[in-house]
Amino acid sequence: MGPVALRVALLGCGVVGTQVVRLLTDQADDLAARVGAPLELVGIAVRDTARERPGIDPALLTDDAAGLVARADIVVEVMGGLEPARELILAAIEAGASVVTANKALLAQHGPTLYEAADRAGVDVYFEAAVAGAVPIIRPLRESLAGDKVRRVLGIVNGTTNYILDEMASRGLSFDAALAQAQELGYAEADPTADVEGHDAAAKAAILASLAFHTRVGLDDVACEGITGVSADDMRWAAETGHVIKLLAIAEASADGVLARVHPALVPLDHPLAGVRGAFNAVFVESEAAGALMFYGQGAGGAPTASAVLGDVVSAARHRVLGGKGPVESWYADLPLAPADSAVTRYQVRVAVADRPGVLAQVAQAVAAHGVSIEAVRQPAAADGATELLITTHRAAESALAATVRAIADLEPVEQVISVLRAEGA
Ligand code: NDP
Ligand code: HSE
Repeated sequence: MGPVALRVALLGCGVVGTQVVRLLTDQADDLAARVGAPLELVGIAVRDTARERPGIDPALLTDDAAGLVARADIVVEVMGGLEPARELILAAIEAGASVVTANKALLAQHGPTLYEAADRAGVDVYFEAAVAGAVPIIRPLRESLAGDKVRRVLGIVNGTTNYILDEMASRGLSFDAALAQAQELGYAEADPTADVEGHDAAAKAAILASLAFHTRVGLDDVACEGITGVSADDMRWAAETGHVIKLLAIAEASADGVLARVHPALVPLDHPLAGVRGAFNAVFVESEAAGALMFYGQGAGGAPTASAVLGDVVSAARHRVLGGKGPVESWYADLPLAPADSAVTRYQVRVAVADRPGVLAQVAQAVAAHGVSIEAVRQPAAADGATELLITTHRAAESALAATVRAIADLEPVEQVISVLRAEGA
């Protein structure tokens, strides 16, 4: 008699779940060999059991998710949302099952509750797919870099916004036109708010910061700004100054503590993140001993995300067969959380001003008065007595920059502060 099959319960059968079923089925023999026991899909919880789903055995579908998790060794949660996902995962853990989830929103809000429950029950919670889809970044941070010290993590972790920004940069599209295209191609949802406002990236930033700095960082701790304010003009100016604009999830530790933030940023064209095109994701890790590392690949889509989910299923299943357990939550450092305006970086401030003698001096004086140092000022050709100034600063604290911008905006010859962009990755 062969080894007893491990019972796998699937919560959700949408974009990701369908592909999880396909991989579990198509690769059943290989998975059994890698795990040391067959994996048996015992049920799939969905909302609508009557809907026809090509490639899915209707006999496996159930709307009794709670009943399903009670009869599984491994529960794969790919239904999304906070509830009932949270209570189903807790029920699974309490029933002794290990859990694999792709749910970054849930982890960014309730991760510690789930990790503590899993620790108490002696089961695994894996979540490789929750950040950057197929790109392995959770395991490297939790395991491969466990002997090193991470300094900073810079991530392009939202494919939809990277696609939009890339179309704006490479084809000169407006934000609205690029968004419409992303929706047509199925990258952006009908309601793209979570992507374009940075909320999806913020959840991922919270997870990355927690892992990188062994400190609990939740969604509400992440300073978040989306890409809706980025204009085609900003893109042109970025290119003019040797940059491209990317939505970055940034996690770093300073003397003030851990800071996690998401915002559009100017990235120098020679930085590896600048070459991340289309809907691809990449996470750039700066660490003390290993130096710079970049993890790159497909951050979304059914099959790529299912690949990461299945990797986790194999890890959890091996523990069931061979004994042992995956890494538990590590928050021993418990660093303070730094205020958002403690970030220190370079800025490009674009200002519409009257074109007459002395204006540049007035603006430069306002900048200097706040302790911010100017690296360069560019001035395009003037028209009708008005012009623009593009001021690039040296590194300065966000609080000093904010005060500078307010002071500039109050100057008589300044018509408008058009945009303020942070420059990262230099
Ligand atoms: P979908 O919306 O395509 O699928 C969700 C599935 O969950 C559907 O089958 C739905 O049932 C089921 N479901 C939802 N709510 C319930 C409920 N209350 N009870 C029972 N079943 C329910 O989502 P995705 O596959 O796109 O995403 C799943 C998870 O993976 C999310 O957490 C997402 O953030 C994450 N993720 C997704 C990626 C992607 O590219 N799509 C990439 C990385 C992570 P029904 O079919 O009946 O509607
Ligand atoms: N909506 C996300 C993206 C995929 O565009 O990258 C799921 O995290």
